[in-house]
Amino acid sequence: MDSILVTGNGPLNGQIPIAGAKNACLTLMPATLLSEEPLTLTNAPRLSDIKTMTALLQSLGAEVSSLQDGQVQAMSSHDLTSQTADYEIVRKMRASNLVLGPLLARFGHAVVSLPGGCAIGARPMDLHVEGLEALGAEIELKDGYLYAKAAGGLKGAVHEMRFASVGATENIVMAATLAKGTTVLKNAAREPEIVDLVECLRKMGAQIAGEGTSTIEIQGVDRLHGATHQVVTDRIELGTYMLAPAICGGEVELLGGRMRLVESFAAKLDAAGVSVEETDKGLKVTRKNGRVAAVDVVTEPFPGFPTDLQAQMMALMCTAEGASVLEERIFENRFMHAPELVRMGADIEVHGGTATVKGVERLKGAPVMATDLRASVSLILAGLAAEGETTVSRVYHLDRGYEHVVRKLEGVGAKIERIKG
Ligand code: EPZ
Repeated sequence: MDSILVTGNGPLNGQIPIAGAKNACLTLMPATLLSEEPLTLTNAPRLSDIKTMTALLQSLGAEVSSLQDGQVQAMSSHDLTSQTADYEIVRKMRASNLVLGPLLARFGHAVVSLPGGCAIGARPMDLHVEGLEALGAEIELKDGYLYAKAAGGLKGAVHEMRFASVGATENIVMAATLAKGTTVLKNAAREPEIVDLVECLRKMGAQIAGEGTSTIEIQGVDRLHGATHQVVTDRIELGTYMLAPAICGGEVELLGGRMRLVESFAAKLDAAGVSVEETDKGLKVTRKNGRVAAVDVVTEPFPGFPTDLQAQMMALMCTAEGASVLEERIFENRFMHAPELVRMGADIEVHGGTATVKGVERLKGAPVMATDLRASVSLILAGLAAEGETTVSRVYHLDRGYEHVVRKLEGVGAKIERIKG
């Protein structure tokens, strides 16, 4: 298994290009199942999760091809040969469950393995099931698989979700596009990836309003046609790299970044003493000398502070002046980066869903282990600012969500290399 060697090397300066959003792409790709005609995505990120989703769609009989060095995914599900998403693929990536709504809507039946738990939590699918049953689906759990059917097709309904789940919102909205009648989804998630999905579905002929708010209304149509859609910028990659100059000092421009994607996160950086300015090419992040100030963080559904940036923010708070309290309200087990940061000299106490971080002058490089996607990059950020060398092992976690990390950080002056293992 490869590892990444990082050496603290002072302030960072330059530009980092931000890729298309993994979490948008993972819901846009299953949307191809809703239509017989081809769907083409541009600005698609080249990540292992995208390869996993490609393999899943191909296992259903869809044609998926990457053109122009992988940045374009052309997909056609004209002749699907299966409506079963197998455990072997689904267990590797929870987002595989996003084929459930489209398969049910187009074919009236689907068999999708439950994803099983993952490092950060149990990650059940009850909110997905409740929403699809509200549209008339009959769903039964047997041998770890969800058997879903809607013999006479789905019917529009008014449904309020108990929690603003991102994935459940995406499954329900995709299913409702082909349901008979009107669906009103209340307490819907408001993430930019959902706005991006709706914009793509609208290009395919769907009739949807309210995306980005808590109430989304969908008028079912008989069929959807093909489209070409550009994947929105990845706000989590953006926020991650905004933290590089924040933790090391210096000035870095994140190309493609827009303030509207990271408003609550940027406000926290501002409160910590890091300036974020929107330019015509992206977001410019500057931190002068001296330590950042400690700030408290509570993770919430969008537009609140993103849970996917909590681990990275904790790395910054480890070197802040003062104590900060980070409350993780979305997942039940998302502090696995804390013990690894403690190995680097951080002062962190975790009690249930709350971590208290007392900032130290400087972290010390050490061998550490990545435990999940966002934890892995949090350790790299810590290593950029630490004294000496940090080796982050199990970087296959990193490859799921970050393309060319070494090249992007080297490009702004970081001392970092990938060690083949
Ligand atoms: C999406 O996961 C993202 N993944 C996650 O990003 C992100 O952390 C999460 O949204 C929250 O923003 C993709 O978009 C592919 P949820 P999702 O349904 O849809 C509970 C990353 O690092 N829940 O909003 O699975 C669930 O257990 C990944 O890129 C139920 O209880 O998130 C969790 O505690 C990690 N029942 C909370 O809701 C359900 O039926 C949020 O889950 C569904 C979810």
